[in-house]
Amino acid sequence: MQIIRRLEALNEALGLYAQAGEAVALVPTMGALHAGHMALVDAARRRAPRVVVSIFVNPKQFGPNEDLARYPRREAADAQMLGEAGVDILWAPEVEEMYPAGFATNIGVAGVSDVLDGAHRPGHFDGVATVVTKLFGQVRPAVALFGEKDFQQLAVIRRLTTDLNLPVEIVGVPTQREDDGLALSSRNIYLDEGERARAVTLPRALGEAKRAIERGDDVATALSAAIATLTRAGFDPDYVTLVDAETLADPIRGQPARLLAAAKLGTTRLIDNIAVAFA
Ligand code: PAF
Repeated sequence: MQIIRRLEALNEALGLYAQAGEAVALVPTMGALHAGHMALVDAARRRAPRVVVSIFVNPKQFGPNEDLARYPRREAADAQMLGEAGVDILWAPEVEEMYPAGFATNIGVAGVSDVLDGAHRPGHFDGVATVVTKLFGQVRPAVALFGEKDFQQLAVIRRLTTDLNLPVEIVGVPTQREDDGLALSSRNIYLDEGERARAVTLPRALGEAKRAIERGDDVATALSAAIATLTRAGFDPDYVTLVDAETLADPIRGQPARLLAAAKLGTTRLIDNIAVAFA
């Protein structure tokens, strides 16, 4: 596996793939890789002869009081996992390579970025949309893979790809979970032992709300019950809500719906989501 940090070298390597007619699958990440990322890599390997994984802790998607400085950085261990998984290129640019002096562009995706995490983390999805658009321009992948765990991020990226006619297929890969159901996340390492034991309440509360909604219970009551369960377990919930799976606006009966939640446990903010049959 080549580890590349400069655009010039990236272009050279990608040029050889293009000459050989080999399509590229891109897995964008911020590193601190876990089995969830490796599931994206596996899916990428099945979709294209060449796989590029990017590791870039994107400062533009962190708010002033968020965890940019303490976000886990483990490039050597990440590189070893990616090499063993048969990845062709690890694209790991420095901040100055991604955002050179004078960089002035912002990509904003209205609507789908403004609600839920967008409302709680102002500017976050602009930062994601801007860096993902740049990564698409740099790597020019035929296909790009993202985890469904970040469901709103996936919706934002699908919207921007459609709106900007970007020639890349966006693939969402199901959330990978620990044995007890907790969604894998690079931020789970922030949880202390007690918090880790209680964290499983998040997927359980979502599962209970899903079952209640699917058997026809009142949606608002099911969501309030989930919030109460989380609060009792020591979470500080930002939201638990049911939305249309594509627009993230109000759900429409008979259309794909998604139950999404975000809640703080101590200093760690966890998110999760689950599909709901909303008949
Ligand atoms: O999901 C992530 O790790 C990041 O938001 C992404 C898509 C790599 C953009 O920085």
